[in-house]
Amino acid sequence: MSIGYINGKYIPLNERAIPLEERGYQFGDGIYEVIRVYNGKPFMLNEHLERLIKSGNGIKLKIQQSIEEFRSLVNEAIAKSGLADCCVYLQITRGISARNHLFPDVPISISMTVKPVVPLQKSIREKGAAAIIHEDERWANCYIKSLNLLPNVLARQTAFEKGCFEAILVRGAMVTEGTSSNVFIVKQGKVYTTPLSRNILAGITRMAVKKSCKEVSVEIIEQAFSKEELFQADEVFITNTTSEIVPIVKVDGQIIGNGLPGEYTLKLYHKLQQFVADLKE
Ligand code: PDD
Repeated sequence: MSIGYINGKYIPLNERAIPLEERGYQFGDGIYEVIRVYNGKPFMLNEHLERLIKSGNGIKLKIQQSIEEFRSLVNEAIAKSGLADCCVYLQITRGISARNHLFPDVPISISMTVKPVVPLQKSIREKGAAAIIHEDERWANCYIKSLNLLPNVLARQTAFEKGCFEAILVRGAMVTEGTSSNVFIVKQGKVYTTPLSRNILAGITRMAVKKSCKEVSVEIIEQAFSKEELFQADEVFITNTTSEIVPIVKVDGQIIGNGLPGEYTLKLYHKLQQFVADLKE
């Protein structure tokens, strides 16, 4: 069963539990994580919680809870939901206080939802997806998983209205990431992805793909690439927690490689599935 949680209480998902003067609402003053659960076990939970703390520090949130406490909370919520394959959305805001730009002296708000996974469309998994190129209009601290997702939402909606699955963002000529994914290209048997910086989120699936590359002896190079290099790549794929690895076969109407999910993309997807299977045991 899908469930919600806010500040120590489990609630039905549709219950209106958030006061109007919650800083998440009024300022987007908070951070979040999305964690994938396979067979009741959260995938790379430690890495997610470490990133959560890093994001919290990035916006000067006074988080008193330890990673251990968050781990227990997440596992408790998963157990309470009774869901085997689900997603946990974990959010922390600067709390509830009369609207004022300055930080209030109130406790942070911790909320969570646990919901079944919405599986990626089978046709996308098998045939790949289309994307658009879109200007990266976000702020200068994209390594923080901030609640402020308006530029991401607008770019993603534009992609959707053009019949595409994702918008691949560019600053100048260079690819940063997707609206909710990291971007990879394959050229002559080597995998390239944008290096970590303040311009992109350090994706957990990106980390898993790096590990997969090592295990299947494929070279992975963290090096910036331009949209022209992306158009000329043999393969393009994107990664995130909810969709894992998605082959991108068309960008701005141009076919990538031979227009089908590529050999390296599939190899890395299968390796990721093995990590998941190991987790299930
Ligand atoms: N988003 N880049 C951005 C901007 C993202 O929002 C995400 C994930 C990623 C991939 O990170 P990870 O592999 O840790 O999921 C990269 C989540 C899924 C979301 O906002 O729903």
